[in-house]
Amino acid sequence: EKGTYPHFMLKEIDEQPFVMRNIIQKYQNEDGGLRIDADIREAVKTSDRIYIIAAGTSYHAGLVGKQLVEKLANRPVEVHISSEFLYNMPLLSENPLFIFISQSGETADSRGVLVEVKKQGHKALTITNVPGSTLSREADFTLHTYAGPEIAVASTKAYTAQIAVFAILAVDVARSAGIELDFDPLQELGIVANAMEVLTAQKEEMEKVARDFLSVTRNAFFIGRAADYFVVVEGALKLKEISYIQAEGFAGGELKHGTIALIEEGTPVFALATQEHVNLSIRGNAQEVEARGAHVCTISMEGMNEPEDQIVLPRVHEHLTALASVIPMQLISYYAALHRECDVDKPRNLAKSVTVE
Ligand code: M6R
Repeated sequence: EKGTYPHFMLKEIDEQPFVMRNIIQKYQNEDGGLRIDADIREAVKTSDRIYIIAAGTSYHAGLVGKQLVEKLANRPVEVHISSEFLYNMPLLSENPLFIFISQSGETADSRGVLVEVKKQGHKALTITNVPGSTLSREADFTLHTYAGPEIAVASTKAYTAQIAVFAILAVDVARSAGIELDFDPLQELGIVANAMEVLTAQKEEMEKVARDFLSVTRNAFFIGRAADYFVVVEGALKLKEISYIQAEGFAGGELKHGTIALIEEGTPVFALATQEHVNLSIRGNAQEVEARGAHVCTISMEGMNEPEDQIVLPRVHEHLTALASVIPMQLISYYAALHRECDVDKPRNLAKSVTVE
């Protein structure tokens, strides 16, 4: 039920701090360690390469998940769009593990891949919000994202939950492989939950950004570098699916290779700057588009912010910045859709779970 909320999407955005805390609790052992099935840990450890398969927002969570598993657990990962995988099949490693990410667990494109890889005798793990769903039943293992029912077509809390579970899985595998880490996922997710609370309380500010930047435009661009790149593609998807504004998320350095041609007087560009090592270069990209008339909204993080930044995120661990930076993008998309009188929870032409290939 929506309760006092006008839309499920807004309710689900607001639930994210609770979802983080729920995940912390569910994945914590009595002794404070991580609770991950030994079989799942072994499956990750014994595989020589992980193939993440997903669609839409879950694919975007997979891009972040890959980074977490590679950086923390030191295991190679590829991420693939499920609808393309069987047609553009990569050369598989000798002992692959497939990880399916799916909020609903019912996405037909992903199921098509699962059926095929099972036929080939490979192991599969499903990370889903619906244990007992098709993808969960047909895989060897399931990790539950504990986000609670997600009703709005635009996925919000499922995305952040999927990333949180990836962080936990990656650290669990790293610890059991004897890798020493300076990163306690449960503690850091607690910090994320607090940051999410701060951000979800800034609705008026987000609504103002949506009004100032998106009320009349036909298109919008999102740029980011390094880990921010994976979040801007999600920001663009969110905006386009509910507000029907044509939006594109891409790497800041790609601007000069084509897209900069589209920048005109007043074109909105959202620049995400949460990564210390690329801070100067993404700000350089923002200046390049600004010089050509773009209306730039910068989203940065405490400690690396500049006075002119429109949104400053509370500081969270560098591995988990996606969990904070996606919140303003969700809220800005929500308000942009609202201002344009779009059907926020049920955008045209879209279904909550896509059960046809
Ligand atoms: O249930 P799934 O996570 O498998 O769904 C995948 C996509 O269909 C889904 O993320 C879709 O892109 C959402 N509408 C995005 O908000």
